[in-house]
Amino acid sequence: TVLVVDFGAQYAQLIARRVRECHVHSEIVPSTMPVEEMLAKKPKAVILSGGPSSVYAEGAPNLGPELFETGVPTFGICYGFQAMTRALGGVVERTDLSEFGRTELSAVPDSLLFAGMPVEQQVWMSHGDSVVGAPEGFATTASTAGAPVAAFEDTDRRLFGVQFHPEVMHTEHGQEVLRRFLYEGAGCRPTWTMVNIVEEQLERIREQIGDKRVICGLSGGVDSAVAGALVQRAVGDQLTCVFVDHGLLRKGEAEQVEKDFVAITGARLKVVDAEERFLSALSGVTDPEEKRKIIGREFIRVFEQAAREVVTESGEAGAEVEFLVQGTLYPDVVESGGGTGTANIKSHHNVGGLPEDLQFTLVEPLRELFKDEVRKVGEELGLPAEMVWRQPFPGPGLGIRIIGEVTHERLEILREADAIAREELTRAGLDRSIWQCPVVLLADVRSVGVQGDGRTYGHPVVLRPVSSEDAMTADWSRVPYDVLARISNRITNEVREINRVTLDVTSKPPGTIEWE
Ligand code: XMP
Repeated sequence: TVLVVDFGAQYAQLIARRVRECHVHSEIVPSTMPVEEMLAKKPKAVILSGGPSSVYAEGAPNLGPELFETGVPTFGICYGFQAMTRALGGVVERTDLSEFGRTELSAVPDSLLFAGMPVEQQVWMSHGDSVVGAPEGFATTASTAGAPVAAFEDTDRRLFGVQFHPEVMHTEHGQEVLRRFLYEGAGCRPTWTMVNIVEEQLERIREQIGDKRVICGLSGGVDSAVAGALVQRAVGDQLTCVFVDHGLLRKGEAEQVEKDFVAITGARLKVVDAEERFLSALSGVTDPEEKRKIIGREFIRVFEQAAREVVTESGEAGAEVEFLVQGTLYPDVVESGGGTGTANIKSHHNVGGLPEDLQFTLVEPLRELFKDEVRKVGEELGLPAEMVWRQPFPGPGLGIRIIGEVTHERLEILREADAIAREELTRAGLDRSIWQCPVVLLADVRSVGVQGDGRTYGHPVVLRPVSSEDAMTADWSRVPYDVLARISNRITNEVREINRVTLDVTSKPPGTIEWE
């Protein structure tokens, strides 16, 4: 295994994912883990992640020289690079030459990390302090305008470091640099595949659940379907899937789950009609975080009720459902502030929206994965393409796409508009190039229109088509004008209450994908 030492921020999981892409097994450990404990895991290599803080900041995670004396090949990235420099006697300084974003790097082509790559390359930087002197024994292998030492290596001791982020997409040769560290620097072999990942998960699930009963919340989306299918494969009939129709679903959603998922996995399914319950809990609520918390809580209350029924139906007195499966992905965890030292952007219903008195133990086999990896797991499990490639739809559903109070009537309006947008985007063949296209109803906004010689005073909807790799960042999709025109035309003609269609042209950041 390769240990990814987490210094906070959002980078450690992304690094772990890039290591998986090199077909090498990885495990994330906190930076507070003692070196002996790391060694007990017999790592083939260690990667030190980036972090949010300056090495000089108060409370900045520190690193002693011990790790570097163990002989384990080590690669420091950004903060990890600076912490390594300090630990080994190099010099890190506030140079007032901070670099953020795309930066031009000059690399030494006959170095181990950059061999075979162009001298000039684009990298993604995010740093205030800079390494101005490499520790003894190290050769400087790259520099930028703001970082005289942007990379270094000591091939005898097999220690490497870079100031930039090789794990992000915008670093042109980042994956190659990482691969060179793993294969050439640390002698790893590419043997870890999707089959291994699935098997590792099955084993972990069996170990966690034992012979206990478990329920799985299905949403109709990819994540919960893959999580459910994994658990079904691991423990079979100990699992009951629960689909909650909370009234915030899109058109046709409930039917699709009943039809597709069960047919393919053979899992037991319980459908709960809970529209009234959710809508009355949401009545009068307009604050997005409050909505999310209410929806998260109500989901759990419904699962608890379903769990009791599962037990009653089983006829076994004293039996209990101990476990709840959720299709939580890594980006959900990060955005809910669940990573170490990361900010809460919004409470995803299945992470930050969980009630405090949760009685289930969670089973979250996808918690460390990104969406595209989950899709690969789904394919490996034999789920059909149309399920695996469905666009994401948030658990809180249309509830967070109505800006203002959520009511049955408003949901009906949005459902119609959303169905039209989806139909036209599918017809235009854009489903795979667009990550998702939320349709947002500005329910408290009205504007004047004219239709059939008469004045209207209706609501606007916002189309929010985005392209993304993992939902952590996104750009607005350049949907062809004629497709937008058709959507606008149909929505304003077919949905009486809507008299205006607008397009959201904001990337993430600074916007998020959903409006709430
Ligand atoms: P944001 O709005 O944070 O969305 O840019 C990122 C991705 O996550 C989805 N999303 C959620 N999914 N529960 C979910 O299952 C949630 O509470 C939730 N909030 C946002 C969103 O649709 C996008 O794909």
